[in-house]
Amino acid sequence: MKYPKEYLDEIKTRLKVSTVVSKYVNLKKRGKEFVGLSPFKNEKTPSFTVNDEKGFYHCFSTSEHGNIFDFIMKTQNLKFGEAVKTLANLAGIKPYTFSKSDEEREKNWQKYISIYSTYINFYHEELLKNPDSKLAKDYLKERNLTAEVVKKFNIGYVKKNPNFYETLIKKFDEKILKECGLFYFDEKKNIYAERFRDRIIFPINSITGQPIAIGGRITQKKSYLAKYINSPETQFFKKGNNLYNLDKARKFSNSSNEVFLVEGYMDVIGLSRSGIENCVANLGTALTDRQTSILNQFFDEIIICFDSDESGYKAAVRAAENSIKEIQPEKQISFLFLPGGEDPDSYVSKNGKNLFLDYFKENKILIHNFLFTHFKKQTTNSPSSLATLEKKLRSITNTIKDEFIKKYILDFFLGKISQLTPNLSKGKKFAIKHVYSLSSTKKIFNETKSLSKAELQEYSLLYLIINNLFLFKENMDLFENVEFITDQGKKIFFEIKDYIQRNNEINIEDLPTDKSLIEKINKFASIKHISNKIKKDHQKLLEIFDEMKKDLANLSIEIKISDLESKFSEDLNESTFNKIKELKKLQNIN
Ligand code: UTP
Ligand code: MN
Repeated sequence: MKYPKEYLDEIKTRLKVSTVVSKYVNLKKRGKEFVGLSPFKNEKTPSFTVNDEKGFYHCFSTSEHGNIFDFIMKTQNLKFGEAVKTLANLAGIKPYTFSKSDEEREKNWQKYISIYSTYINFYHEELLKNPDSKLAKDYLKERNLTAEVVKKFNIGYVKKNPNFYETLIKKFDEKILKECGLFYFDEKKNIYAERFRDRIIFPINSITGQPIAIGGRITQKKSYLAKYINSPETQFFKKGNNLYNLDKARKFSNSSNEVFLVEGYMDVIGLSRSGIENCVANLGTALTDRQTSILNQFFDEIIICFDSDESGYKAAVRAAENSIKEIQPEKQISFLFLPGGEDPDSYVSKNGKNLFLDYFKENKILIHNFLFTHFKKQTTNSPSSLATLEKKLRSITNTIKDEFIKKYILDFFLGKISQLTPNLSKGKKFAIKHVYSLSSTKKIFNETKSLSKAELQEYSLLYLIINNLFLFKENMDLFENVEFITDQGKKIFFEIKDYIQRNNEINIEDLPTDKSLIEKINKFASIKHISNKIKKDHQKLLEIFDEMKKDLANLSIEIKISDLESKFSEDLNESTFNKIKELKKLQNIN
């Protein structure tokens, strides 16, 4: 039996050719294509190319050519049905089970899209050519929708008193016309009435570009009419599975890593008109997992940019709570809040593409940052309120499917919470440990507070050297692997080492280092009290030095890890994660 075209298309659109091929062939990106060694021939120079945009591979040395199904059949020696199963599995789609109704469904699908195409094309022509469409045309003109844009999005206008049902019933049966959502039965008049009468209509296409539903906007405000209405859900149109403009936007996934997810038809059209083509709208409903995962198949980053009004903000929070489930390594979800009550359409129409993109670059906020900021806003500093915050963030984190991301987001949230509760997390990470023995005076204590942990440790190490120059001249090998962190520390250490090496007569007074720095070291080095007590025990002094050297190396790693961790919370990049892992291993060794 034949697989329904819909099912095969779904697999095709979920899997880039390069994704499939790269499981078997090592591919390198070259411009818009990928190249590699042909799997059909033993060769040394790559003659095999893959083009995701066009959806095929081509081998120049053997002239083999085809789509993902052909590739799997030929390279894995499988029959068509087996190739479909393999690829459905890879695409995360259930294996197809044939039933009697399949053929029926396939026929209905063909009729369904044929009805929608006929309908949309008819009213598109009416808008362009029929003088009765003047008011609708004026409205579009007022909104700066040129004929070019109207054609690109196949926008139409349904008359006030339309009767296209009469035309369609000549070609299609009543049952399917009733089910397709374009008409409803008016019992009073005993006719099938057109749902979208006196509305501008925006076709909604399937992922492969066939029209499957419509959104319609009124042209004059009337309190008793909804501004927009959509086709009801049908056998072939499920709102949560579709996105407006996905069929066009996905073609830009080769040239852009990100996709803008906006609220409305007009936002998509406004952005597209300004040259931002990688945008889709979620049809006025809450964002579903399915929509997020479809976008993830094509783009590395989803930027959710809703209207900057209260309902847009609320929808953004809901979208964040929902879509965080789906986040994966190397994939990002960010939010963009436009200023001054604008929506993407009004903003980009006023300010243009470049300002929009600049604003986006500077103001986008990653999903976990957004969620933290949002829930923190509702929190006071009371313990119970903070506990509620932690509980909420933990429960959000628990919904994340990817274990790896889950761990890091939790770490991120808990780190943020611990900054709100400094007393609970005393001594954690980079809070400076207050060394009370350092000085009896409050003044010195306050001065030390302005020094970083790294500076404090370096001062102690330098203190030992400066005050035991002879001892270190005899034990220069201890200077190996000393790793200073700050530039100042590195400079002073180098100056002293150089001085000791070059001179036989050594004296603290003759050190080339800035005298005020030496004074500062002598004042703040916390080691001085201990060091003074064991002044004569050289062995002990050298042991302490060795110990402090290790502490400093560990601190250096800790700082690198912390830098990488904040980088990781931005990019969720696996290679950053691996670097962190490497460093953590080193930390345990030291
Ligand atoms: P908006 O009210 O923000 O409309 O609704 P818009 O996109 O900015 O349109 P214009 O500029 O006023 O023409 C955003 C989306 O919410 C859905 C539609 O999908 C709309 O594009 N919506 C809105 C409805 O489904 N019904 C409504 O009554 C209003
Ligand atoms: Mn809007």
